Amino acid sequence: MTGLTRRRLLKMAAVTGAGGVGLSAIGRLGGWAAASPQPVVLQTAKIQTKLMDVGPTDNVLTYGNAGMPPVLRMKKGEPFAARLINAIDDPTTIHWHGIRLPNKMDGVPFLVQPYVYTGDHFDYAFTPPDAGTFWYHPHCNTLEQMGHGLTGVIVVENPNDPKFDAEFVLNLRDWRLGDDGQFIDQFRPRDAARTGTYGTVRTANWLDQPQYDAPAGGLVRLRVAFTDVTRIYAFRVDGAEAMVMALDGNPVPERFSPDALLLGPGQRMELAIRMPDQEGAVVSLRDVRGTKPKILATLRAAGMSFKRDVRDVAPLEANPVAEVDLASAQHISLALSATAENIPSDGICGSLGYGFWAINKVPWPGDTPDPTTPLAELKLGKSYVIDMENLTPQSHPMHLHGMSFKVLSSSTRPVQPLISDTYLIQPNEKVSLGFVADNPGDWLLHCHIIEHQKSGMTSYVRVV
Ligand code: C2O
Ligand code: CU
Repeated sequence: MTGLTRRRLLKMAAVTGAGGVGLSAIGRLGGWAAASPQPVVLQTAKIQTKLMDVGPTDNVLTYGNAGMPPVLRMKKGEPFAARLINAIDDPTTIHWHGIRLPNKMDGVPFLVQPYVYTGDHFDYAFTPPDAGTFWYHPHCNTLEQMGHGLTGVIVVENPNDPKFDAEFVLNLRDWRLGDDGQFIDQFRPRDAARTGTYGTVRTANWLDQPQYDAPAGGLVRLRVAFTDVTRIYAFRVDGAEAMVMALDGNPVPERFSPDALLLGPGQRMELAIRMPDQEGAVVSLRDVRGTKPKILATLRAAGMSFKRDVRDVAPLEANPVAEVDLASAQHISLALSATAENIPSDGICGSLGYGFWAINKVPWPGDTPDPTTPLAELKLGKSYVIDMENLTPQSHPMHLHGMSFKVLSSSTRPVQPLISDTYLIQPNEKVSLGFVADNPGDWLLHCHIIEHQKSGMTSYVRVV
């Protein structure tokens, strides 16, 4: 990869002189209020930051230069533009996870756009059709780049949204650091063949258990993005009434309180939380999965009680997602399995060099210039149902690019007809996901546990 970078760099230097890219459109580093035709500048950077008490961690990657990648705010139905400037020593791209946009803007190298090499830039422009919580990340050498920090949250606002007394955004993720606070190997092959390799340090907004003040008795809108490369959470709120309003960027048909709600890499959740009346009372946001439950962050009630009622929160407006026509829908069978087939380790976008997983028996790491044939060719405007079966002993957060699906049924549990882009399928589960193929192009479908994705659990559909 470095070879490629250098060759390309030399070419660039010959054409442009040393600097390369003109930096006329420097973004507003403070606010990042984004919904203007002026592009937001997202420049990749390698920084030092404090993630452990022992001292700063080197080789942390971000956009901008001030800690965590900025929360990008867009407006539903209004044009958004961003210039990615690549200032790290590795090709990259940006994928806008969950946003339905033109294929050329989807950020998948080889399939839809060229690599953005060191010193080069790429201009993204699209109009988000849906309001909700989304996120952005590279789609190249992702285990390394996301593992080192490149995961940011997107809020798409809707002017008709209900009013809250406060809003918080949480970017939940881990880091694989040693006792000295420095990065250790991002994965272990034996874990990649199972759940994926877990981080050693857990953060919310790059902090250990941050606490935020919110008005006592007030209504809080909490947007949570699960951006870790591996970890699945069982989410619970203690100390306050809380309702799930939206999942994966879309309102839930029926609100419910999150009691160990399972959420995997790539997913998002929006909660309405009614703060306790008493000043100083603390609400904790917890992950109760596994043997080491963890308080992720806390909210502290401040001031005199607003005396609000969580049932007063008006419903969120549905997003304009086309309704699947079940009568005419064609079914696509999709089996997730383990494999022992080897994947050549000459991938040039961060292949791990292992083949552990497959979709319909084909292991593809998603990063060869000559991709495997698409899983299916879909006709523009027609309805489809993906019948997906998990033949493995692991859970997989399966993510479809470019289109939103509706969860129709599951073989193992009652499901709400959620609209989503990422479904966390359990072992031995069969699920049916319906959608209208209304966005032309090549769209990835992959597990968002990045080690699974990069060791075979990737495919794509072609809409023509
Ligand atoms: Cu969150 Cu293929 O991506
Ligand atoms: Cu997986």
